[in-house]
Amino acid sequence: MKETPRSLTIEGRGGIDPADESDAHRGFRSALGQFATGVTVMTGVSPAGDPVGITVTSFNSLSLEPPLILWSLGRDGGSFACFQVGTAFAVNVLSGDQKPLAQKFAQVGIPKFDRVETYRGLDDVPLIAGCVAYFECHVEARYPGGDHDIVVGRVRRLYNVGTNPLLFHQGALRPLA
Ligand SMILES: Cc1cc2nc3c(=O)[nH]c(=O)nc-3n(C[C@H](O)[C@H](O)[C@H](O)COP(=O)(O)O)c2cc1C
Repeated sequence: MKETPRSLTIEGRGGIDPADESDAHRGFRSALGQFATGVTVMTGVSPAGDPVGITVTSFNSLSLEPPLILWSLGRDGGSFACFQVGTAFAVNVLSGDQKPLAQKFAQVGIPKFDRVETYRGLDDVPLIAGCVAYFECHVEARYPGGDHDIVVGRVRRLYNVGTNPLLFHQGALRPLA
């Protein structure tokens, strides 16, 4: 029988201090990074009525009937108070030439929608121009999951534009070759 690759035990870990990242934490991130994903920006409207948007790679399909999707929302982000149950939001699936937008919408404390072309979606949620697909949703449920909440969205309307997507793999953003 073949030997398994070097493993890391991460059970029993407490809080994670980014300044003192342990081997186990780095190993967990690195192994997760082997799972290549697309890149999305989740857009919505804050309780104060301002547009919000965050870069998210944890997006996935959940159910065909009813049409449900899910993603995870970090507890430490400024947008944690947004995306409440019953509110509208949109999944903007980024195209291969939208890496600068992925980087912009991952930043904290900047005006993210400056010089970003948008369309007005359902319930005034901004849709970012030039994406490969859009899913307009409302939040069906939110479940706590460690340092994130799992957000379940029910899809109300979608657009499948179908051009080349942006990918995220091993910490790098790049277009599909
Ligand atoms: C490639 C990449 C993927 C990310 N995926 C997620 C994610 O799935 N969920 C999440 O909450 N934050 C994710 N983030 C971090 C958020 O984009 C970031 O914390 C957020 O934009 C902070 O903005 P806010 O303070 O306005 O909420 C990701 C960042 C990058 C660069």
